[in-house]
Amino acid sequence: MGFSTDAIHVGQEPDPATGSIVAPIYQTSTYLQDALGQNKGYDYARTNHPNRKALERCLAKLEGAPSAYVFTTGMAAIDAVFRLLRPGDHCVLSESVYGGVFRLTTQLLVQFGLEFSYVDTSSVEKIEAALRPNTKMLYVETPTNPTMIVSDLAACGRIAKDRHLTLTVDNTFLSPYLQQPITFGAHIVVHSMTKYLNGHSDCTGGVAVLTRAEDAEKIYFIQRSAGAGLAPMDCFLVSRGVKTLAVRMERHDANGMAIAKFLHGHPKVDRVVYPGLPSHPQHDIAKRQQRGFGAMISFDLGTLDAARKLLNHVKLCSLAESLGGVETLISHPATMTHASIPADIRQRIGITDGLVRISVGIEDIEDLIADLEQALDKI
Ligand SMILES: Cc1ncc(COP(=O)(O)O)c(C=O)c1O
Repeated sequence: MGFSTDAIHVGQEPDPATGSIVAPIYQTSTYLQDALGQNKGYDYARTNHPNRKALERCLAKLEGAPSAYVFTTGMAAIDAVFRLLRPGDHCVLSESVYGGVFRLTTQLLVQFGLEFSYVDTSSVEKIEAALRPNTKMLYVETPTNPTMIVSDLAACGRIAKDRHLTLTVDNTFLSPYLQQPITFGAHIVVHSMTKYLNGHSDCTGGVAVLTRAEDAEKIYFIQRSAGAGLAPMDCFLVSRGVKTLAVRMERHDANGMAIAKFLHGHPKVDRVVYPGLPSHPQHDIAKRQQRGFGAMISFDLGTLDAARKLLNHVKLCSLAESLGGVETLISHPATMTHASIPADIRQRIGITDGLVRISVGIEDIEDLIADLEQALDKI
């Protein structure tokens, strides 16, 4: 079946008990046992529940893997994936990885004996130079948040294969509709489902998609033991969101390109970073491995003052953290999402004080351009 058919139907079969087309929300913490040791497949909602199982089946199918496990947030899913490593193991990560991943690895996971190196994963040479005898994982975010650096997934897949590494890819910015990392050799795909997969900014969630049975077994153990599996109502919301993923992503993609072109031609904007523009350093790689360019754009207004003026004057675009919802969100990475990254590292990886990130929604494009135009006029 095609992507949209799978997104609508896998895991979403009509309820056999009532015929309800939409799966009911199983808002219960526990399940009646028929007899000692006998149940209908569920016993306790931390361990599993039908809404979680339905969503996990659907997401595994969309990413092209045998299994997926959903968590309360993207960070919980990513934390579970790092727990596949053992004390003394080393992981190479994209240096401009999402700020929360930087905080988790540098401030928490190092306390458990894991080692991390942050490199520009758009460079095969830099990845190879960072590898050590104890390197076990290559963790790539592409495109990166918010610097929009694209890594060559086929090259990463080759390195992982040659060096026996687990390749984990954060596919949050594009969703499985626009990018399928497993086809390039990824073993694990993670998402913040809070973003495009849910798409309506009304719950948080995360998923780890797994190609190998041994990883799946461990991740399921972590999910049910540590207890960060996603609750029924939130699974229902993400399942509902996923049904429209393809049409939303088409519109996000078209709006993203239109806003990138508008900003690129605007005299008050110093620099636009969007993989869909030929000026982007990895434009050709993005064209090769992505089905579209998405709707995440960063642009530099030169100074904090200019960025503040724009952000204080937008009316339709909302000044808020997060991304990937139907509504346009705009933010200032240096003081918001990436504030936990030290200033010198922020500067080095291009998160300047004048950098603004926009998550272009699916509103009418004329309205979005008019809003940005009037706010840019205030600078
Ligand atoms: C690329 C990326 N990965 C992971 C996360 C973490 O997801 P969550 O906020 O759902 O924990 C985010 C959050 O913004 C993100 O942008």
